[in-house]
Amino acid sequence: MKKVKCYAPATVANVVCGYDILGFAIENPGDQVIVSFNHTHTTRITKIEGDEGKLPLDVKKNVVGHVVNLFLEKVKSRQGVDIELYKKMPLNSGLGSSAASSVAALVAINELFENPLTKGELLPLAMEGERLASGNAHADNVAPSLLGGLVLIRSYEPLDVIKLPFIKDLFVVSVHPDINVPTGEARKILKQQIPLQKAIEQWGNVAGLVSGFCTGDMDLVGRSMKDVIIEPIRSMLIPFFCEMKEIALENKAIGFGISGSGPSVFALCKNKDQADEISDRLYHLLNRHQIKSESQVTKMNNKGALII
Ligand code: HSE
Repeated sequence: MKKVKCYAPATVANVVCGYDILGFAIENPGDQVIVSFNHTHTTRITKIEGDEGKLPLDVKKNVVGHVVNLFLEKVKSRQGVDIELYKKMPLNSGLGSSAASSVAALVAINELFENPLTKGELLPLAMEGERLASGNAHADNVAPSLLGGLVLIRSYEPLDVIKLPFIKDLFVVSVHPDINVPTGEARKILKQQIPLQKAIEQWGNVAGLVSGFCTGDMDLVGRSMKDVIIEPIRSMLIPFFCEMKEIALENKAIGFGISGSGPSVFALCKNKDQADEISDRLYHLLNRHQIKSESQVTKMNNKGALII
């Protein structure tokens, strides 16, 4: 029986100032999904590993089952499909865990069907996975996980997704404190109205960040990694956020912020030594305060999801 296996990378959504409109993929970690046909005319999740038993096997409740069913509807197939999910990152981490699973499942099933859909057609299906996971169909994790690199969602209606230039020399530190911050909860606490002055600051920074990536101007990227709207609220959910930021910036990070909806935080660095130093210091800071964490240094990923 033919089986297809896909890897989809973790992502850093928002990139500090671009709430719901910017995200980039990282090399590690990433989820894997294996799909194969079955003879039952139903979709089944036959195996999940790496989730500590937390994810449902019910296809309607698990993003991989949900998006595979949406795919089958879209291609008008009644084919039965078995899905195996290998989680390689913590749930609710802020590293786009559900997005990586949805994207891996969709790219795998598309390959199994000999690619009837384009990546542009898979993207809205992956966004529905985000709706199931968090109550909102944002694309700033699924788009970079699918396409790789740094991605801008210029518009949601109609969907207009732009892959921005990739800077291959950047190192990414990610630190995941072992606390639970579900994305849905981290969205509910945000204010629905923002003062004009704050909006002006924010869109200046978004434009600066995009311009910095397009021209390779890392100092401009760093100056633009400021969030005056979301971070002041969400950082309250992350222990020692201000201390971590201070340490990262003192140790020459280009910028520092919350990864997606948290609790993971990330720093961008120009070289690996700086990144390793920051990774160590942040890990030890949390450790001194009895907070378990996982920290790692990786690079941006420009390939996105891949059949392996
Ligand atoms: N843009 C989303 C948020 C990403 O910040 O809620 C979730 O990982």
